[in-house]
Amino acid sequence: MATYTVTGGAGFIGSHLVEELLRRGHRVRIVDNFTTGKRENIEAAVRSAGAARSAGASVRSAGASAPATPDLIEGDLAELAVARAAADGADYVLHQAAIPSVPRSVKDPITSNRANIDATLNMLVAARDAGVKRLVFAGSSSEYGDTPTLPKHEGMPTNPLSPYALQKVVGEEYLKLFTRLYGLETVSIRYFNVFGPRQDPGSAYSGVISLFIKWLVAGEPPTIHGDGEQTRDFTYVANVVDGVLRACEVPAASGEAINVATGGRISLNQLLRVLQGIVGTDLAAVYGPPRVGDVRDSQASIEKAERLLGYAPTVAFEDGLRRTVEWFRAA
Ligand code: UD1
Repeated sequence: MATYTVTGGAGFIGSHLVEELLRRGHRVRIVDNFTTGKRENIEAAVRSAGAARSAGASVRSAGASAPATPDLIEGDLAELAVARAAADGADYVLHQAAIPSVPRSVKDPITSNRANIDATLNMLVAARDAGVKRLVFAGSSSEYGDTPTLPKHEGMPTNPLSPYALQKVVGEEYLKLFTRLYGLETVSIRYFNVFGPRQDPGSAYSGVISLFIKWLVAGEPPTIHGDGEQTRDFTYVANVVDGVLRACEVPAASGEAINVATGGRISLNQLLRVLQGIVGTDLAAVYGPPRVGDVRDSQASIEKAERLLGYAPTVAFEDGLRRTVEWFRAA
């Protein structure tokens, strides 16, 4: 059993990491300022982990008790004292806290810089001083920008097109520097358009899949920015949870940035057709102007993750969409 701090643990991806760690019987500490995170996400993670563990117990007929409740630190990691409390006594830090939106960063670069860079630097200093074994960072496919070469591999230069993308590049550079200068083990996992249950469709900045499902289920037409032929490597959340937890343990991963995705790409028009089938509607989209700072095509090479982490996607795109629609209907 180890102690994991999950920053942003009340958020979408963070709460899935919390759930899996509890399921595996680890001690978990969540740090969140509830800017975008929600208490319901923590409650749902604890509930699901408990259900999975008691199902396992009946099969094995011994041992697995309900998981402990995670500790919660409510605070802003842009304050060093909060970062120090987060790192104190932790074996691993999964630094997921961020303001995760390209358009929001274009509109308000100062707020997103504070959340995405100042907080990351504090977390690195605190992890170094507390003797944390490894810090794993939430990197982003947006770091690659618009490159003609597909799939995008980690050897390519970064080319940020938005403050958010630049902040993720800077965070990652800070990680590498901390590994070189101070010997703190770090890994950046570059996420590619992650989706799944608990992704919040509540704002115009929400991920496109959560918005499309919300509208289709409500019987309203979704909006497509541009011609809908832009593509993304949409990745179901269980796949990134697997990648991140592998990244904590593989010795050779330290100091690296690694894509974790599916290796495929789907256009928004295709996405909409698949979702129409799952939801059972033929509602058409309304097309508007393309979004400023948008990347045209995004597709990951997952060769490095396969080689270094032994990673392979376990939940396919359509299966993930079905699970997500089910969750939206039950929520
Ligand atoms: C980007 C990053 C991703 C990062 C995420 C954080 C890239 C390639 N991806 O995602 O790694 O984690 O930011 O927010 O840079 N769209 C519509 N209608 C809508 C909403 C969105 O057409 O209602 C379009 C967008 O214009 C975009 C695509 O859908 O072309 C995906 O948008 P979104 O889900 O916001 O994610 P990205 O900006 O691609």
